[in-house]
Formats: sequence, C-alpha cells, structure tokens
Amino acid sequence: MSIQLETSGGVSVLTIDRAPVNSLDLSMRIRLLEALAAALSDASVEAIVLWGGSRVFSAGADIEEFAAGPRGPTCTEPTLPTVVAALDAATKPIVAAIAGPCLGGGLEIAMACHARLCASTARFGLPEVKLGLLPGAGGTQRLPRLVGVETALRLIVSGDVIDARRAVEIGLAELASGDLRDAAIRHARALSGKPLARTSDLNARLPDGVSAAAEYFAAQRAGLRPALPAPRACIDAVELALSHPVAEGSRLEFELFGKLIETPESKALRYAFFADRSAGRLPALPPGVTPRAIHRVGIVGTGTMGSGIAIACLDAGLATTLTDATPAALAAGRGRIETHYASATKKGRVSADVAAERLQRLQTADSYDGLAGCDLVIEAVYEDLEVKRTVFRELDRVLEPGALLASNTSTLDLDAIAAATARPADVVGLHFFSPANVMRLLEVVRGRETSAVSLATALAFGKTIGKVSVVARVCDGFIGNRMFEEYLRQAYALVDLGVLPWRVDNVLERWGMAMGPFAVMDLAGNDIGWAIRKRRAIAHPERPYSTFPDKICELKRFGRKSGAGFYTYDDAGRRSEDAAITKLATEHAQAIGAIRSDVSDDEIVERCVSALVNEGLRLLEEGIAERASDLDVVYRHGYGFPAHRGGPLFFADTLGLHHVLESMRNFHAGYQGWAWEPAPRLIYAARRGTCLTDIETRRVP
Ligand code: 3HC
Repeated sequence: MSIQLETSGGVSVLTIDRAPVNSLDLSMRIRLLEALAAALSDASVEAIVLWGGSRVFSAGADIEEFAAGPRGPTCTEPTLPTVVAALDAATKPIVAAIAGPCLGGGLEIAMACHARLCASTARFGLPEVKLGLLPGAGGTQRLPRLVGVETALRLIVSGDVIDARRAVEIGLAELASGDLRDAAIRHARALSGKPLARTSDLNARLPDGVSAAAEYFAAQRAGLRPALPAPRACIDAVELALSHPVAEGSRLEFELFGKLIETPESKALRYAFFADRSAGRLPALPPGVTPRAIHRVGIVGTGTMGSGIAIACLDAGLATTLTDATPAALAAGRGRIETHYASATKKGRVSADVAAERLQRLQTADSYDGLAGCDLVIEAVYEDLEVKRTVFRELDRVLEPGALLASNTSTLDLDAIAAATARPADVVGLHFFSPANVMRLLEVVRGRETSAVSLATALAFGKTIGKVSVVARVCDGFIGNRMFEEYLRQAYALVDLGVLPWRVDNVLERWGMAMGPFAVMDLAGNDIGWAIRKRRAIAHPERPYSTFPDKICELKRFGRKSGAGFYTYDDAGRRSEDAAITKLATEHAQAIGAIRSDVSDDEIVERCVSALVNEGLRLLEEGIAERASDLDVVYRHGYGFPAHRGGPLFFADTLGLHHVLESMRNFHAGYQGWAWEPAPRLIYAARRGTCLTDIETRRVP
C-alpha cells in the first residue's frame, strides 16, 4: 500500500497502489499529498502524471472509514477535499491517466487534474448516491463545470457509471492512443509551461434554453421518487455550483456529506454494499480450491427462464448452446433471444454489431449429444422431479468429466436430482429469478454431495454473468421462497383481520417495497401459490392458513395472465381495485369473525417484515443460509425489498430487537398465532444485545 513516485525526463508519475481498488483512506491521502509536494518542489519536474495502474484508477473514498461517522477518519485532515484542493492548486500540469474504474473520490481527484486521458477500459461515475451520500470532494462542483449541469445532474443523481466512449462524448476525458501511461507522460510534457486548464476556472452551464435556475432545480427536486435525502442533497449541491466558486461550493458540499453519512438510509446502503460483496464468498471452502474454467454453457429448456439465462450468458461473453425437447420449442427459444436483441438494438441499449456478435456465440443442438463440449449445463425445464432426473441422466451420459451440472429448480430436492447421476459432486442448483437476464440474484444451491470445486465454479460463474450469488443448502423453497411464504401468510392473514388487499399493497409500497404481495402474486400467477398451499395443507394440517387466496383461485382469477386476480387490469397492464374483491374480502373476514378495526400501517409493515425475519433466522438455525446478511441480499435483489432499508434483518436491528420480539409475542398471542413462535436466535440476540446481521452460521452456537 503506497503512493510511488517515479521521475524521468522531467515528468513524475505518481502511482496509487492500494489493492484491491485503490480506495483513498487517510493514510493514502497523507501519502498522496506528500508525493505531490515532493514532485512540486523538485525543480527537475516539469509535469506530473497521476496513475492508478492498468486495472483500476480508484474506487474513491474508503467506504469502511465512513462507519466512524463525521468524527472519524473521513473528516480527519487531510480529507479528500483537501487532497483535491491541492491538486487543483498545483503549479505544474497534472494529467490523470485512467484505466478501469474511476469512481466517486477517484473521479473527483481526476477532475481536479488539468487533463484526463483514459484507456478504453475506463469507467467513470459518481456513485455516492447509491451509498445514500453525495459526492463530497467537489464532484458536484466540478462535474457541472466540465460537462454541463444537465449531464452532471443525470450522472450524480442516478449514480450511473459510464464507459470511456461516453466519457469522451460528454467531454469528461480524452481517449489515449497506444499505451496509456506513455501517452499520459507525453501529454503532461506537452502541457508543461502552458497556462493550466483548471476545472475550477470554468463556469457551470445550464441546459440550453433554461434561464431560471431556481425553477429548473425545483423541477428536478419535484421529480425525485422516492424522496430520499441523498438525491435531494445532490441536486442542492449542484445548484450551488452555479452561484459559488469551487472552493466555497466544495466546503458546503462537504458539510452536506458529513450530515448524510449519519442518515439511516446511508448506513443501510453501506451495509448493503458490503453484504453484496461478502455473499459470494465462502470462508468455509478449503484453501486452494480454484474454480474450473467455463467457456461454453449449455442450457436445457428454452422457455422464458432458459432464454433469459442464455441471454445473461451471451451478454457476459460466453459461448452458449441451447437444446429443448422438440425442434419447435428450440426454434421458439432461439426466436425469443433474437427478439430480445432486436429490441435492445432498437432501444439503443446495444449496438447492432454487439448484438450480432452475441448472437454469433449462440448455438442450438437438437439432442443432448450437442452439449458434449459444455463446461456447465443449466437445466431449466418443467418443475417436475422425474422430468429433471431424466435430463440429468442424459447430461451424465454426454458431458465430459469435470463439467458442472446445474438445475434451476426453485422447489425440488436437488439431492434427488443429483442422485440420478453417477457424479453428484458435480451437481449444484442455480436458481435464477425471472427475468433471468435482468434480476441480479442467483441462489447457488449446495447439495449434500456438491464438491468444493463445483461450488467455487458456480460462484465464479455467477460473478462472470454479473449476478450477486447467495449460497443455500437444500430445502423446499431455499432461502427466498421459504421466507416469501411466511410473508405471504401474513399478507393473507391481514385480509382475515379485515384489511383489504390494496391497503396492504399500498402501505408496503409506500414503505419502499417495489410491489406489494398481492400485486406480486397476480404477476407470478395465483395458481402457483394455490398448488403449494394444497401441498402444505396435507403435510401440515396443524398449521391453518388463510383461505382467501384460494377463493380467488376458485374464481379462476389467476392474476395478470388470466386478466384478473386480486386486482383487475386494463389493456396497458395498470391495476385497479375491484368491488367484487372488496365484497369477497369483507364477507370472508366477517365469516372468520376476527375483524380488527385497529390494524395500523405500522402493524402491516411489521407483520410482513417480521415474518421474513423470523423465517430467515430459522434458515440460519437449520444451516440453510450461511450468514444473516445473505438473507438481506436475497430480499433486496430478488424480492424488491428497498435497498435504503438494508434488508429485513438489518431493518429489525434498526427497529431494536426487544421491540421486534415484543411485537412477535403479541402476534403470537393473537389470530393464527402459531406462525409467530419467535426464533430462538432472535431471543438470544435480543437478550445479549447483539445484532442479527452479525450472525454467521459457523460462528453462532
Ligand atoms: N472503499 C472500500 N472498499 C471498497 C471500495 C471502496 N470505495 N470499493 C470496493 N471496495 C472493496 C470491496 O468491498 C471488495 O472487498 P472484498 O474483496 O473484501 O469483498 C473489493 O474492494 C473488490 O470490490 P468488488 O468485489 O466490488 O470488485 P469489482 O471488481 O466487482 O468492482 C468496483 C470494483 C467497480 C470499484 C466496485 O467495487 C465499486 O463500485 N466500488 C464502489 C465505488 C464507490 O461507490 N465509490 C464511491 C465511494 S464514496 C466516495 O468516494 C466519497 C467521496 O465523494 C468523498
């Protein structure tokens, strides 16, 4: 970990070297300032290059430092704004040479340099808003000066990352030809002796045709959904750039940054950032286990799920072979993928060349033999154990030793599927969420016999295709669906208590869920839940559940696919409340006789979220999930849980475990209380004053 300073031919190259992503903690900031001072005071140095190496320029401030709040190292001198100010004030030209990610504080230091040269691998962004923050080292002051207010606002408020081509287009950087480091040295030398192009000397530009700045910014604020503190602060700070010099605007920006660092939203989003990154890591894997290489992926079953998985693989640069039971099904699957790329090209999401290259990597095979050279085959056929076992027998026959065999099952026993082969150690579950090319969650299911190498290979594959992988052991529903079943149970129980379905949905959506449970079931198909409930009623007659959704299914209101479910839908797919369902729900509740008129919005949220927490803790107790934060990852990426609330377990920690436990005990004493036996780990954590999110299966007794 260091800043290296190398001088040759009048140019000093300052190399930021802090694995893995050159984040700028306090010690790096001190070293950077020292190296800068040394280069500036050395009379033989005419110009300076700031270089992060060929893989990453800098991922910005060290997010771990934020945990200590505004009195911690983030706000200890030299702060990042101090480093940025020193670069800006330098009396010799400084060229930032940018390869790979240049994000947050990384981009802020680059924007304080006098020129920015980049390689085609460079990626730029100010993603602080995704951590519940705003750029705090002058980003909101310099970006509008370099690229104009409109483009700057779009980038800062979304936190989106752009590639080198786009950065050049908007005037943020220039593309280097040939070797980046050499080009930057030449460029720095050429700037020597010329007037310095300081970003701080520029003026921020409003979009053409806009003269009333206050109205323009008010409209930007009004458009924010949901109205969280960080995006609003981003807009406020960019507005300052129009009326304040960079130094003053940056001082005010850093004040806002210091406030945001303490908001519950930022704490939740930072927790979520690290939770995502630990999810795909399994400390229990023996050291030295290396994943096998995956070049070609085979997919059996070309329905919506199989096609989505194929698109995810093609997007990630993998060769992909599809097969299905009939030529017609195979052609339809291929057609679905071609349509996807045609539409993506039309919408400008990919260029025609890129789409053509991706489709070129797609092959179809009319029999299992055509999958012979695949390193990984993912089965995505009908959810039926015998059908899947037949597929796996065939895969076992045709695949080379060492290939990974994966099932996309969401409910079936992976061990029973693996037992159909002579190589259960090579079998894993890869449970994708629909649409598989969009949803980031991947449940990686570890069977009884799955080997460490197979698991490591599956996790590496997940990373290759851009998924957030969470490891689960085998159980009915794995992590996500098992928790979802308890969440749904409470949503339906609320109807038994006299709450109308749309009130449940509206309350949860206002709270932040992407979609309320009734709207989700209308989308997924109510008949699916019906089949599960029928199975459960036979297996567990002692666990009565609400029959309200069954009544909906008896009316053949299976959801969007049948035109109506809990809601009715217009031609544009917009949902609306239905008087027939109001009548049905009211009569249903009256017949049960448990109506309560005092169910508050808070109780609706608590019932549904606490149900997730309790079942999640059971999954940890059973060893199905590895760590508590994995449960939160599953809920954020697979079920629309609001990121700014961290996840169900994080939310329970912030509510206070004594409070959560007390509510559960109250629910336990009430209607369908059998579902509310508090998980022992909740009682344990509440008593010990520890956090649920600290639980790792291997650490807790
Ligand atoms: N601070 C601390 N640790 C960081 C970090 C950061 N800014 N960025 C990444 N890391 C860590 C990750 O936690 C991970 O650690 P681990 O190996 O122990 O799990 C490791 O670096 C590698 O990260 P990824 O697994 O994410 O690696 P990828 O290669 O997939 O992605 C990346 C690299 C694109 C840089 C991605 O890590 C990323 O987006 N990082 C965050 C960037 C960001 O949000 N920057 C803004 C920071 S806030 C700021 O700068 C404030 C300023 O305005 C004052």
